[in-house]
Amino acid sequence: MDKKKTVGGTSARTHVSQADICCGLQALGLQSGDLVVTHSSLSSFGYVERGAAAVVDALLETVGTAGTLIMPSHTGLGKYDFGAYDPTKTPVRKTIGAIPDAFWRRPGVRRGNYPPRHPWAAKGPLALPLIEYSEGHPVAAGHCLDILVAVADLGGYVLLLGCMNRNNTSMHSAQVTAFNELEDACKPRREFLRSSPKRPEDFDAVDQPLRHADAVQIAHIGDAVIQLMRSRDLFDVVKKMYISHYRNAGGNESILEDIPDPDGIRSRYDRLMQTLKHR
Ligand SMILES: CC(C)(COP(=O)(O)OP(=O)(O)OC[C@H]1O[C@@H](n2cnc3c(N)ncnc32)[C@H](O)[C@@H]1OP(=O)(O)O)[C@@H](O)C(=O)NCCC(=O)NCCS
Repeated sequence: MDKKKTVGGTSARTHVSQADICCGLQALGLQSGDLVVTHSSLSSFGYVERGAAAVVDALLETVGTAGTLIMPSHTGLGKYDFGAYDPTKTPVRKTIGAIPDAFWRRPGVRRGNYPPRHPWAAKGPLALPLIEYSEGHPVAAGHCLDILVAVADLGGYVLLLGCMNRNNTSMHSAQVTAFNELEDACKPRREFLRSSPKRPEDFDAVDQPLRHADAVQIAHIGDAVIQLMRSRDLFDVVKKMYISHYRNAGGNESILEDIPDPDGIRSRYDRLMQTLKHR
């Protein structure tokens, strides 16, 4: 990693290579065989040699063939554009980023067929069962027992490359899980960290409790701040936040809906877990 200087002496962008990214990820604790969900910003690193391709290569190299890498592969399609989605052609939308858009195009990556607006992409031994599970997950169930809950239950990680918890989709799943577990309910949404009207920074409220619980490793790769957390730790911290600050504070009940066939959703999830935990 080296800091280039322009002729005039002003500092130009830091240059980062694939090897720098691998070293940084390993120093943070990511290892061969890990299961990891990644959210990312390419420009946050400074200048990356070979761009998004180098970041994807570094991630795949770090988790190895025994590990599973997952990225959002969400599209710019409308909610009801069912016929318009082609998992082999439709690009990832700009707000998801260049790194996920490079990832789903790689050989061996399984990209979800459904739902067309919010598919996930994954590569590795757990990719097929997890993506198949997400494809069969009813849209009405939202983040209740979604694949990000499975990642937490399987001991996986969330990795934020130059972005923040406001971009961490597991925050949705963690809130819904906390609510459903503690209230013995089965609701698709109960996002107590959302203010009304919602603000992008709402989910950053988890930053300090995560650090306080020693549940996040933070480092720099180039100019990017990298955060690695065990997904289960994130879920536990969010649950504690719900108990201590939100449980008795009321909130926006209008977003609560019952999920159709909650028992069916639970038994499908239990079957997935049984299969995967014995692999
Ligand atoms: C929105 C977001 C993707 C923007 O990040 P970004 O770094 O500006 O954009 P990308 O990651 O797409 O990277 C592309 C940018 O990198 C820069 N870039 C291009 N080549 C580069 C290189 N070799 N090295 C470094 N940066 C480069 C350019 O600025 C490019 O932007 P442009 O295409 O408009 O010119 C990011 O802030 C974010 O929110 N990421 C998380 C998304 C997510 O997972 N959300 C959860 C939803 S489920």
